[in-house]
Parts: sequence; structure tokens; C-alpha cells
Amino acid sequence: MAEVIIVRDQTEAGSVAASIFAQQISTNPCTVLGLATGSTPLSTYAALAATVAEDAIDVSGVRGFALDEYLGVPPQHPESYRSVITREVVEPLGLNPDYVFTPRGTGPGITQAGAEYEDMIAEAGGIDIQILGIGSNGHVGFNEPGSSLASTTRIKALAEQTRKDNARFFDSPDEVPTHCITQGLGTILKARQLVLLAFGANKAQAVAAALEGPVSSAVPGSVIQQHPRATVIIDESAAAGLAHAEYYRHAWRSAQILNAVSF
Ligand code: PGA
Repeated sequence: MAEVIIVRDQTEAGSVAASIFAQQISTNPCTVLGLATGSTPLSTYAALAATVAEDAIDVSGVRGFALDEYLGVPPQHPESYRSVITREVVEPLGLNPDYVFTPRGTGPGITQAGAEYEDMIAEAGGIDIQILGIGSNGHVGFNEPGSSLASTTRIKALAEQTRKDNARFFDSPDEVPTHCITQGLGTILKARQLVLLAFGANKAQAVAAALEGPVSSAVPGSVIQQHPRATVIIDESAAAGLAHAEYYRHAWRSAQILNAVSF
């Protein structure tokens, strides 16, 4: 079972998550990060950028692989995930842009782009730590409900709910792409550590189903139950549907006390 941490708000979640990432990078300066887009990871990226600057953490050897990219959106488009990752992660953290990759969403031989991306991740030695959001429909990456639990990076059709959720990033709903290229659930499970965040009441149902429901392709986020090292950081609203919230709070308090005490 994942460690579930229920926090007050996104700022606290960002600082808890950033401390996990900062510790990982300090331990291994050649860490391979798994990066997510969307609103959810922003407070983590901001807190991590501040920590990297304050503690002078060396990020020159850090590499990164984004979870997904829109299909048919050129990298220079402001809402391509290449642009978003550059703006929200590469620049604030001071990462080497040549070490940060997104799946290729355009160009010839696009049906091979998923396999190419899998090869690139494998050549980098695999992802050490992956940050994840969760969609209101339970998706992780762009693995929509029905995705194989063993899937690898590939082209997928976006669910209409996802296109609606992402319309805020585009001038009109019609501009939201219909397809994407996304790491698969099997790819995500291969990362050595997962950190999933969720905020707000519209994520409560997806969070409850992912954490406490059956592991099922109907709720792609439920794959985290199969990961041996997963941390879930959520605010009170996103935790509202959890049956075992009191236990998670108790376990987290105990873990903090144990960390502070030496036997
Ligand atoms: P959000 O999206 O962070 O913008 O809420 C999460 C997701 O769709 O995975």
C-alpha cells in the first residue's frame, strides 16, 4: 500500500514532495526524473526550485523524461508539453535542456515514437522517481480508463472528459488535441519510486477508487497499489472519499515520530 499523506493545501504538498525529490537528487546527482504536466505538480516544482537554489544542489547531471505529449502539436507551441516542461521545470530548476525529453508528438514514423521513447528511458538506466497527477476520470499520464496495466509508451485517443479538463489551456475547446503519446502504465510501474499528488474535490472520487478500489484498467491510477514504493500526497478535499483516512493520518504521524526518535 502506498504511504498516504493528507496535507492542508497545495503549498504544503509541494514542500513535502519537493523534500522527497531534493533528497533523491542530493543522494544521486545523476537522478533520472519522471516529469508530469498539468496544474498538480506546479507547487512541487516551485518548492523544488527554491530548495535547489537555497541549498545549492547540483542538478547539472539530472535527466528528465516527461510522461506524455500531445499528438500533432509542434514542440514550439506554447501548450506543447515540451514547452510546458521547459517553462515549469527546466528553467526554474536550472536543468540542462539537452538532458530533458518529451515523447515525440510530430514527425515521420510517429507510430515508432513510443518504442523509441522506451529505448531512451532504458538507455538512461530507467526512471528513479516519477511525479504523477491523476485525472478526474482516474487517468495517470494520458492512460485513459481501459488502458492495459502492462502498457508501454504509445499513441492514445484522449477521453472527452480529459479534453474538457484541459480546455483551460487552449483558446477554445476545439483546439484541444484529440490524441496524445503517453508513457504506459507498465512504463510508470517500472519507475523506482512514485509520488502521486491530487488536490480538490473533483479528484476525490478518482483518488478513492485508485487507492482503495480494486486494481483495474477502469481506474488507471489504481496501478500505484502494485508499486512497492509509492507516496500519495493529497489535500483534505481530495481525501474526502477515503474510507481509511484516519489510519493514513495516524500512520503518517507515527512515521514522523519514528523519524525524530533514535532507538
Ligand atoms: P491536473 O491534471 O494536474 O491539471 O489536474 C492531472 C492529470 O490529468 O493527470
